[in-house]
Amino acid sequence: MEKIIIKGGYKLKGEVNISSAKNSVLPIIAASILSGDVSIIENAPMLEDVFVICKVLESLGADVQLDTNTNCITIDTKDINSKEEPHSDLVRKMRASFLIMGPMLSRFGRVKLSLPGGCNIGSRPIDLHLKGFSALGAQIDLGHGYVEGRANRLIGNKIYLDFPSVGATENIMMAAVLAKGETVIENSAEEPEIEDLATYLNSMGACIEGAGTGTIKIKGVEELKGVRHRPIYDRIEAGTYMTAAAITKSQIKINGINEEHMKPILAKLSECGVNMEIKNESVIIYGEGDIKAVDIKTMPYPGFPTDMQAQMMALLAIAKGTSIITETVFENRFMHAPELKRMGANVKIDGRSAVIEGVKKLTGAEVKATDLRAGAALIICALAAEGCTSISDVYHIDRGYVDIENKLKALGANIERINY
Ligand code: EPZ
Repeated sequence: MEKIIIKGGYKLKGEVNISSAKNSVLPIIAASILSGDVSIIENAPMLEDVFVICKVLESLGADVQLDTNTNCITIDTKDINSKEEPHSDLVRKMRASFLIMGPMLSRFGRVKLSLPGGCNIGSRPIDLHLKGFSALGAQIDLGHGYVEGRANRLIGNKIYLDFPSVGATENIMMAAVLAKGETVIENSAEEPEIEDLATYLNSMGACIEGAGTGTIKIKGVEELKGVRHRPIYDRIEAGTYMTAAAITKSQIKINGINEEHMKPILAKLSECGVNMEIKNESVIIYGEGDIKAVDIKTMPYPGFPTDMQAQMMALLAIAKGTSIITETVFENRFMHAPELKRMGANVKIDGRSAVIEGVKKLTGAEVKATDLRAGAALIICALAAEGCTSISDVYHIDRGYVDIENKLKALGANIERINY
């Protein structure tokens, strides 16, 4: 078992480079199934979740080569066949594996997958994914913990999503690219990662318009070719380092910023009184002065991202005044609150809202990461806390952050990963 130990009170300085977006790379790897050809993903984040989805493709017959020197992933999906089923524990281990359903249905007309488990932050249903596949003419059968989809050929259709689900938008888009005729997805999710997936698919020969807006049009094509693709930067990783600089009143330079994608995060940090200067694809954070209390309501993009909610709660724990965070996207995404309270934060949870009374100081404690972003929030508080913090269950953090302790150590943090 591993723990991350942090001695708080150290300022950060220097530069940090942001990796490609985990939530872009995962659907793009799934989409490579559609081509039956070779694709190369550049600057890929070497993360546990990426390793899992690569194992899923290998269990289906793909040849996947991960080069940790160049951070390139080469995927040959020529030998994938629909007779194989990915091991259920792989699909259940990482919900995003479910993103292979659309590509498999589209290419082979048949797929059988274990139902993805829920996770700590919510039940994570897949009803919108399945509704979309049915609208495209697939026969969907559920039973014994599995979902099976069959279709001779998917037929384009108009689909309205009850909720702008990121995963459902991606899965339906991937199912539609080889369907017969045109598909229109309305009330689609607008996250930048969806636009990145469409860029990859269009470079393979797909015909997708409107990705990144609330209406996406997909004209079915006959075949797709493998391509080389460099995904967008990870806006959540970047936001995480921004809050780390803000809470430690440090000045750091973060390289790998897309200002448009970061707008809701930059706006909220500015509202908190964090000064910043954006230059090309970098931002300099001038952590100085007090953090002001603000209210946050998480929303689908371009609203404030739910994946930054925990990190902002960590920052607001030491703000001047009272902040209110409302989590509208997931039903159980405040599990970091009790752990932050162990470090002296003053947080009261009432259903989907959290009231955070800023405190003068936080103190180090033994805490536990409960999910990926909750773990990041604990690190952020630990950097500013008085004394030592020990964070267990760090495997959650490794799912979304490349080499976080070495990146922070290089910035001057007093941080170690230990085995125990
Ligand atoms: C993606 O998850 C991200 N994961 C999540 O990031 C992110 O928090 C989430 O989008 C929201 O932005 C990846 O991209 C791999 P959703 P996804 O479908 O697609 C409900 C992280 O920290 N819903 O947009 O699963 C659902 O219950 C992770 O990097 C249905 O009701 O999110 C939830 O309340 C965590 N029916 C809401 O929609 C469905 O069929 C948002 O879910 C699908 C979703």
